[in-house]
Amino acid sequence: MWGGSPPPQPLTRSSFMPAIRPAAAWSYDLARPNAGAAHPSILVRTVHGLEQLTATDLIRNGHRIAEVSKRQLVVESRNDSMLTDPPRTADDLFVLIASAPDPGRSKFGLSSLAAALDHADLSAIPPGLLRRMRPHPPHAFSVSASFTGKRNFSRYDLEDAVGDVLARRFGAAHHSRRFGVAPPPETIDWRVTADGTTLRLGLRPFDAPLHRRAWRRKTVAGSIHPPVAAAMAELAQLRPGLRVLDPCCGAGTLLIEAAHVRPDCTYVGGDHDDEAVRIATVNALEHPDIGWRVGDAGALPEATSSVDRIISNPPWGAQVPAPRGLAPLLDEWRRGAPRRRPPDRPGR
Ligand SMILES: C[S@@+](CC[C@H](N)C(=O)[O-])C[C@H]1O[C@@H](n2cnc3c(N)ncnc32)[C@H](O)[C@@H]1O
Repeated sequence: MWGGSPPPQPLTRSSFMPAIRPAAAWSYDLARPNAGAAHPSILVRTVHGLEQLTATDLIRNGHRIAEVSKRQLVVESRNDSMLTDPPRTADDLFVLIASAPDPGRSKFGLSSLAAALDHADLSAIPPGLLRRMRPHPPHAFSVSASFTGKRNFSRYDLEDAVGDVLARRFGAAHHSRRFGVAPPPETIDWRVTADGTTLRLGLRPFDAPLHRRAWRRKTVAGSIHPPVAAAMAELAQLRPGLRVLDPCCGAGTLLIEAAHVRPDCTYVGGDHDDEAVRIATVNALEHPDIGWRVGDAGALPEATSSVDRIISNPPWGAQVPAPRGLAPLLDEWRRGAPRRRPPDRPGR
């Protein structure tokens, strides 16, 4: 229950801080350019709305943003952090291998694209990834495509057009996504995006998309997308020593993502469903200092002014029922929230 629980101990940085992807270090070796070569250009994909936040994070880490468009950033990486510590608000990232003119709306454009890719310079492929495209026996690779605007072809047509060229050029087997069969493990993933002007071809240096977090062993109904949770933690402007509460924690995504970047806050998560609290506890194995409680978010034991931040993804009554409606919960939290002290006026 909320009441009577021992106050959580302040967090110390866990000695086990897994990278965003467990294979990040391995991937870095694969994607490392030749000694002396420039760092690669990177295609970063995000949820729509997180482009600017992700760009800000990358700039803070010393990278240059060449282009921002809907759900996508083109980044000139300037150091290794892009691969060793990729942005948590990104959905995925790819080493940019080639660009071509957008094939346009008509299906005929796909034949011209194939012809252009047949002769495109693909030498930007880092040697480690190239070895994976040319193993013996030939390995499978897959292609995922997305485009903006109306087209007279499907994403599968685009994927297969690009996949056929890559299969020819590398002697590898293209696993088409057209039939809904998941690619076998170990499949190397290519990404194609077409924004109306430019078609970009990238290769994922990791073994899985960035949004698929290694810590996430289980989810609950309504579990939030981890990059969105990371963005919420970022927007909460957490500082060392703050006390942070999620009274509707579900599988724990928000606090776990927050604790990855700000391990020096004190975190408490609660949910009225004891199974959700069990799942959050298991998901947070690498963060044993987060306190998890079973309790009703509408009856917090003490004024919520005892915490500095509430970060939450409360039930909104669609996928997750909100029996008493969302409004009473938010009112309760607001009533307890500390009043903001007006800034001191100069001269007082
Ligand atoms: C949208 S889900 C939260 C998902 C969570 N952010 C995650 O990533 O897994 C809302 C959660 O609120 C919980 N919940 C609903 N009513 C509640 C209440 N009155 N008190 C506490 N938790 C409640 C549900 O059990 C559910 O786990």
